[in-house]
Amino acid sequence: MKVGSANYRSIWHDETKGRVRIIDQRWLPHEFRVVDLISRADFATAIAEMWVRGAPLIGAAAAHAIAEEMKRDPSDANLDSAWEELHATRPTAVNLRWALDEMRTLLRPLPESERATAAHKRALEICDEDVEINRMIGVHGLEIIREIAATKPPGAPVNILTHCNAGWLATVDWGTATSPIYHAHAEGIPVHVWVDETRPRNQGALLTAWEMNSHGIPHHLIVDNAGGHLMQHGQVDVVIVGTDRTTAAGDVCNKIGTYLKALAAADNNVPFYVALPSPTIDWTVRKGHEIPIEERDGREVTHVQGRLADGRVSEVQISPDGTPAGNPAFDVTPARLVTGLITERGICKASPEGLAAMFPERAA
Ligand code: MRU
Repeated sequence: MKVGSANYRSIWHDETKGRVRIIDQRWLPHEFRVVDLISRADFATAIAEMWVRGAPLIGAAAAHAIAEEMKRDPSDANLDSAWEELHATRPTAVNLRWALDEMRTLLRPLPESERATAAHKRALEICDEDVEINRMIGVHGLEIIREIAATKPPGAPVNILTHCNAGWLATVDWGTATSPIYHAHAEGIPVHVWVDETRPRNQGALLTAWEMNSHGIPHHLIVDNAGGHLMQHGQVDVVIVGTDRTTAAGDVCNKIGTYLKALAAADNNVPFYVALPSPTIDWTVRKGHEIPIEERDGREVTHVQGRLADGRVSEVQISPDGTPAGNPAFDVTPARLVTGLITERGICKASPEGLAAMFPERAA
């Protein structure tokens, strides 16, 4: 996607520097910083502390981390310990385990002398595959927006509510939930996006709003509690969210607060779609409550970060000294509340049968 006039991905390998580079998302939208990730510790910190975040991007970063490790030490012991350390960084997004498994399964049978080259190639492929998966999610999701647009008076926008940031910053490019929006906008379909702020870390306010601004997509930032009211008043045509892990039965784990939006959508007959890349499906889990939910530092709840009047980015405390905070980072929306899953192969029901029909080779 473009930042100013330059094309960016959220992670890339700079061939001239021989380094993996990322957009450090902690500073957006106030500062655009690019940093190099070199050591295993750099990658682990970047994932755990959310310099990079979003399920597909976490997976891509982990793949690059293994590739860089293999240049340093291609032994089995190092491969295994890198797998373990990276896997422990964030527990919920299954793309992390998926990417680490992809790398280890490929590398394990190879002689050590071939591992660095093979790992580098596969990490780049994983990134390219993510871009193509998300592009196709956009192509299929566009159909939903097109159909809604056809029911509206000419020129009236399709109002789409989204939660968290499932945009290009959460993936390598395009985003998942945002890809249909970018495709519709490019096709000239009027769209308007309700951007949930997404407390506690405000990925909607900071990142999705920045993406919408950068691409000239009409949008309003809303507090997390506004969605239900807007739905009651006919101001939301469709909800599209991302996911960090979806079970083989179609239960959807996503950023905390998604479930409440799904409940409100069901109560108001608003279609609720989930943009789901296939590496985000956990075929080993059927019930949503089996998904590990990341519990993050309470400081994310008691404090907020923003830009001060003098331009500095800083943090302020919003609760009394000593008030403890609970901070579950994700929740699970049961399959019955999901209208459909938008995958790279098409749209399917959020059910074991729907997913198995779409990905028969994986379901088996
Ligand atoms: O905690 P985060 O910012 O990594 O959470 C991100 C989300 O919950 C996204 O909605 C999800 O990863 C889908 S991203 C395409």
